[in-house]
Amino acid sequence: MTKSDKPNVVGVKILKQNGINVEELTKQLVINAAVEFTAYYYFTNLRAHCTGIEGEGIKGVIEDARLEDLSHFESCIERIYQLGGSLPNDATHFIKISGCEFLQLPKNPTDLKAILEKCLAAEQGAIVNWDKVCKMTFGKDPITYDIAKDILAEEVEHESWFLELLYGRPSGHMRRKYSGERPHTRKHSRALDIS
Ligand SMILES: [Fe+2]
Ligand SMILES: [Fe+2]
Repeated sequence: MTKSDKPNVVGVKILKQNGINVEELTKQLVINAAVEFTAYYYFTNLRAHCTGIEGEGIKGVIEDARLEDLSHFESCIERIYQLGGSLPNDATHFIKISGCEFLQLPKNPTDLKAILEKCLAAEQGAIVNWDKVCKMTFGKDPITYDIAKDILAEEVEHESWFLELLYGRPSGHMRRKYSGERPHTRKHSRALDIS
């Protein structure tokens, strides 16, 4: 394929006409995807260190948040490619751009409070990241906005779960019916459906 064969992508053209900086938006989506993917990994390790009687219940909450982070990663992928972007070829680079090193185990790896504080910080960072995408796309790119606002809704729920565990601030939530339920992002991450 020569350069002149470059396709006319109307789905991207309209976004530019609507005032979207497509390159900047794609870059932000790749960063957010990296954060979700890396948080999924670190939450796996944090969950494994929730030991003892108290740790058992916390495990379940971290598991609900962890599987939804995987859903958030999956929810980004198709849109990144539709916009003309791609995932980095080098996986270590992908992990690096997430800036999630702070999610490594605390000094005392089974310190439940320290683990919960890390989880809370991760959720709060994700809220900022997805709010950014909502602001970039509101009224201009309904498809990306729909994904971003659905992910944001789950991140706000996750934040409230960890706030409740750490500070006793009621989240008003009933536990997920099952881990991986992802009530807001399910339609964006159908690849994770087994049936
Ligand atoms: Fe997430
Ligand atoms: Fe989350």
